[in-house]
Amino acid sequence: MISTKMQDAINDQIQAELYSAYLYLAMSTYCESQNLRGFAHWLKLQHGEETEHAEKLMDYLLERGGKVVLKAIDAPPAEFGSPLDIFAQVLAHEQHVTERIHKLYELALAEKDYAAQIFLQWFITEQVEEEATAGAILERLRMIPEKSGALLYIDKELGKRE
Ligand code: FEO
Repeated sequence: MISTKMQDAINDQIQAELYSAYLYLAMSTYCESQNLRGFAHWLKLQHGEETEHAEKLMDYLLERGGKVVLKAIDAPPAEFGSPLDIFAQVLAHEQHVTERIHKLYELALAEKDYAAQIFLQWFITEQVEEEATAGAILERLRMIPEKSGALLYIDKELGKRE
């Protein structure tokens, strides 16, 4: 059986993952409105990944005999600025999520919840990848002058994400 503290913290993380999904969906529609179809596509897939993260946490909680409590999700912003601004926000957001996951892991250690420790390792590894990917795209955007043709090349590359 899972502890109440751990259950509450996982429910908070489900809310945070669903907010991430909502944020990337908002960024995706914003990019679509700017005719940046590749960026929109990449962010739409990211929205899907975040939903999967939330579902993974829900499934785990249910498996442990816990209770899933879905909470209200804040509205994301509607304006995001340039692609460079967007990816600076994506990276900052992922760094914030990493901090949250680490706190969750610290709680699992304090609670001596060994199953949660093993389960959360997947999320720790996933965050390394999420930060690296967002960081690499941000670096590429920093290399090019704003509104240059190279932006269309990056847009095309991001459109290839599967
Ligand atoms: Fe679910 Fe992008 O972390």
